[in-house]
Amino acid sequence: MLSKLLPLLSILPFVLGAPASAPTGTSTTTPTVFSASSSPTLTNSTTSSAPASTSGASGFITIPLSSYPFTPYPTPTLNPRPPVFPATDPLNPPDVSCDPQVVPDFAPAWATAYEKAKNLMSDYTLEEKVNITTGVGWANGLCVGNIPSNKNFPGLCLEDSPLGVRFADFATAFPAGIQVASTWNRALMRARGLALGQEFKGKGVNIALGPMMNMGRIAQGGRNWEGFGADPFLTGESAYETILGLQQGGVQATAKHFINNEQEHFRTSESSNVDDRTQHEIYAHPFLRSVMAGVSSVMCSYNLINGSYACNNDKMLNDILKREYGFQGFVQSDWSATMSTLSAVAGLDMTMPGDITFDSGDSYFGGNLTDYVNDGYISMARVDDMATRIIAAWYYLHQDENFPTTNFNAFNSNDEVNNQHVNVQSDHYKLVRQIGAAGTVLLKNENGALPLNKPRNLVLFGSDAGPGKSGPNEFSDQGGSDGILAMGWGSGTADFPYLISPLEGIQERARQDGSSVFWDFDDWNTALASNMAFGQAVAVVFIDSDSGEDYITVDGNQGDRNNLTAWHNGDNLVLAVAAQNNNTIVVVNSVGPLIVEPWIEHPNVTAVVWAGIQGQEAGNSIADVLYGVYNPSGKLPYTIAKDLADYSAQLVTEDSGSEFVTIDYTEGLFIDYRHFDQANITPRFEFGFGLSYTTFSYSDLDVSTLPSSDSDEQNLITAWGNGQASPIAEGSSTALWLHEPAFQVTFTVTNTGSIAGTEIPQLYIHYPSSAGEPPSVLKGFTNVEITPGETEPISITLSRYDLSIWDVLAQGWRKPDGQISFSVGASSRDFKLQGDISC
Ligand code: BGC
Repeated sequence: MLSKLLPLLSILPFVLGAPASAPTGTSTTTPTVFSASSSPTLTNSTTSSAPASTSGASGFITIPLSSYPFTPYPTPTLNPRPPVFPATDPLNPPDVSCDPQVVPDFAPAWATAYEKAKNLMSDYTLEEKVNITTGVGWANGLCVGNIPSNKNFPGLCLEDSPLGVRFADFATAFPAGIQVASTWNRALMRARGLALGQEFKGKGVNIALGPMMNMGRIAQGGRNWEGFGADPFLTGESAYETILGLQQGGVQATAKHFINNEQEHFRTSESSNVDDRTQHEIYAHPFLRSVMAGVSSVMCSYNLINGSYACNNDKMLNDILKREYGFQGFVQSDWSATMSTLSAVAGLDMTMPGDITFDSGDSYFGGNLTDYVNDGYISMARVDDMATRIIAAWYYLHQDENFPTTNFNAFNSNDEVNNQHVNVQSDHYKLVRQIGAAGTVLLKNENGALPLNKPRNLVLFGSDAGPGKSGPNEFSDQGGSDGILAMGWGSGTADFPYLISPLEGIQERARQDGSSVFWDFDDWNTALASNMAFGQAVAVVFIDSDSGEDYITVDGNQGDRNNLTAWHNGDNLVLAVAAQNNNTIVVVNSVGPLIVEPWIEHPNVTAVVWAGIQGQEAGNSIADVLYGVYNPSGKLPYTIAKDLADYSAQLVTEDSGSEFVTIDYTEGLFIDYRHFDQANITPRFEFGFGLSYTTFSYSDLDVSTLPSSDSDEQNLITAWGNGQASPIAEGSSTALWLHEPAFQVTFTVTNTGSIAGTEIPQLYIHYPSSAGEPPSVLKGFTNVEITPGETEPISITLSRYDLSIWDVLAQGWRKPDGQISFSVGASSRDFKLQGDISC
């Protein structure tokens, strides 16, 4: 096969995965020359007779060549410096803090795990090592992905999803990623991660396929709800805490999808073309934070980046992830995203589910990888590194110590042997209910509409207020829309054990209050809704909007949403009710932003509750907020625009007819609020916005410089202060001196209202104009609970990294020239205090 391709190599460009518009730094690349006479025999004795090739599915040639001399088994530092940089075992992460000042050092734990892995593998043959890197094939094991056992190694179970154990019973359906991001509360992010981790471990899952941390570049993006919103810092902190929690629970976490999988349309055939600075500052940042959380695995995505498939992308996998970030775990492919055996050289360590396409019976790894090694195309050292990374990650999580065997069958719910129905739910429903409420954002509240105070009666409108007609798991992988929306659709789902609808949550409270509750779940009979709304004390209209993964199309939406309009006639329903009732409250369960212009300014719409994607306790969480049992504190993790066209990046649905669909990230750093601020567009509700039933004031701003805990790196700190970029080396982007707390911003917040509440102070950096940055960039947030009349001291620390921009020419992190200032406030546009940073 290779020989057939050779003539083409002279006429087609090498595609190395380096950004088209940016240099690859200090590295030099020497393309390997393949000689026709020494082409490997590709007949796969173990799995297939299909040829492995250097071509993508459609024949586009990608030659992955490691562009720098990558050392196997990197250990960026073995020099912990407690208390700021303590040696950390993933089962014992640092305590959660709303102003994290500790940078955990996982390198010693990795080093121990690597030693154990090397010992275990000392008598492994090449074939056995290759088997560790190759999934058993689609539906050939108990989990959605499986690595076979070998000698003393019991094999691995890989299972979705980011919000619960998929395809299992007796497991909790947690709020989605977007909900926990909307809490802006690190303790809740960590607690959710831990509870999830405990459930995965209890089911005998070694590797959880989450969290998902793509960026929400496209407001209609189908899988945005699985992730953490449209800002890299918020996403990075959410990913960081979720991973620390998951791994504390004993399961290996997977940071996915690496990278630029920002829409579902054409996800396997589009090239996201992204400049190097945007990649570093926006899309890669959450993965950097994942590495800093000690993440065990990273999943490369389906799409291409700058012309190279993500799982075949030397620049992203070897250069950025393994070199700059010092990632010591393993890279697994998304399901069937491997496109070549040579991807191993580009940094891919494990192919999932193993076969080239589902049930094809062949593999790019397996026998083909063995042949490539035997024939000298891939080094033995690379395969050693691949298998060692995978087994080391297993030791690193202590999964060699009494780890439960897999006790469910993801592919067969009638398998009476393997489905042992282990109940892993504990009391996690309480946390689900709390996060459901804490991630709910109050967007409008007039005439004291909320919280409800023993209303005479309430009438609930819309199918989103009630249960689905055939229960909570009516549609496979939640691929349908009926009843309360508490999850999107696709592989990012789990079965609901039960699902509390708003009707149930509200009725329970109404019984205590003596209120009457009426309802009408018909979304389309607006005349009836108008009649029923007339004369009632409170009318609550429930509307929703759903999306998911591309392999399911719901109501014409192929994963991505076709538009940002409410589903099920929602806008008309609100207008019909508001026409007859001057206390109309709108509750929105949406996977992302909606255009709310048709009714948002209607004088009879007194309140809007953005309830999000809340999981199995949705109705209780909504009731808690409506009645003030939970004083809302959630903040928007994305901008709600007045018009879809106001967003800087738009969904691409047109196939250009060429081999790959080109998606140019021409907006660069200016996504979401960064664009609205820059282009001076007034959003309907800005990023970071959210009301409370109380009010807060801010005062007493101070900024100080903190002493360094990294005395060895004083020269780097001085150079950074002088405006020099950080040098590039293994682990250079996650180095302690860059990430230790370097500046501390303090201020106070007072609860000026009459009830207790939680405020989420946010810190935005304003770079000097020379930096070419957006006007305001989120770099800190915290959460504080304050009783009425009380004042609480707040601290938000910043690192040198937080203040840096990525210098494309120098390939390092640099402080921009000029004065850096910042604002502290209640949203990206509601600034209360402003200051300068001297550095
Ligand atoms: C999704 C991944 C998922 C995998 C396994 C893929 O289609 O993109 O997020 O983990 O399937 O189900």
